[in-house]
Amino acid sequence: MDANNQIISVNVEAPYNVTVGWNLLERLELPHKRVALIYDSKLPSSLVKKVSSHFELSIPLPSGEACKSLEVHAKVLSELAKHAFPRDAAIVALGGGATSDLAGYVAASYLRGVAFYNLPTSLLGMVDASVGGKTGVNLPEGKNLVGAFHQPRAVWADLETLQSLPERVWKEGMAEMFKHGLLEREAAVPRFFEKSDLEQPDFLSTLARSIRVKAEIVARDPFEAGERAHLNLGHTLGHALEWASNHSLSHGEAIGYGLLYAAILSRLENRSTWMGKAAEFLEWMRPSPLPTRNFEDLIPLMARDKKATSDGLKFVLLDGPGNPYTARVALNRQHQAFQEFLKVVDNIEQRASASRSLLPTPEVP
Ligand code: GLY
Repeated sequence: MDANNQIISVNVEAPYNVTVGWNLLERLELPHKRVALIYDSKLPSSLVKKVSSHFELSIPLPSGEACKSLEVHAKVLSELAKHAFPRDAAIVALGGGATSDLAGYVAASYLRGVAFYNLPTSLLGMVDASVGGKTGVNLPEGKNLVGAFHQPRAVWADLETLQSLPERVWKEGMAEMFKHGLLEREAAVPRFFEKSDLEQPDFLSTLARSIRVKAEIVARDPFEAGERAHLNLGHTLGHALEWASNHSLSHGEAIGYGLLYAAILSRLENRSTWMGKAAEFLEWMRPSPLPTRNFEDLIPLMARDKKATSDGLKFVLLDGPGNPYTARVALNRQHQAFQEFLKVVDNIEQRASASRSLLPTPEVP
């Protein structure tokens, strides 16, 4: 084990480690005779081969959110059954957040639950989806509406897998790291790392710290009876935007927008002042355009948020970084916040297009 690798313990009922570092996949060894690898079919084939050579069966998945359906779930279960995978077999997920959500749900449901290991290959997967045992699929009616809590037995986050990540996908992960920093406290909000910072030692330690924020919350509240809902900061509007865009807006981009909206709601509700930081993040991220400017389109989508109870929808707000809480917010407040949100987004877009027009026009040879 490389001395620079970091290990984060997730102290749930069956504790497990998240190892973050370099060259982890080469040394993979699992205590199971039969293992099925479930992987994102768009990953570089050299990476898939490196891992699949250890295991008996490899099942490719449609890339991204397209794999998170009951149809794909049923197909993968049938594949395992055709190969008579037994109860002491294991599932290994290789891919981003969507792959681990689907593979984890397969592991949770096949034979009422088999062992599960995560090898996240996106920053978002490393910092969020691979840790904490939330697994599941989408329904036509909304995101993540079917699933189970099924903790992995171990997670190996090999930074080498991030080398081929497109810039836009890298920034998605930074949205979750930004969120974890806000949940920790103001001083913990990380600088916005570029992909070119991947090999810097402070990137590795910041990533490990961000995963630790999640691991500690999950250990205190594994089944989201209370505190774990704070990890959904920015997700109420974020999921609605992602769904309204039919996923042309990525999850991380939607969370970037959602964090700004949560910051504005927090300011209106409790005068909290982290909006500038959220706007700065969105300006750095340069997400795809909003799918709608009409709040009425988003209200029914937000009503299907998993944080909604029989008493209605709750938002996660921050009474300043480090002090999250959940609260109901009056509908007129939500509208008011959305109008302010649109103004901030418009300003950011205007600044971005002004800076683009200042760039020299490329010469035609
Ligand atoms: N992604 C939020 C959670 O795992 O609770």
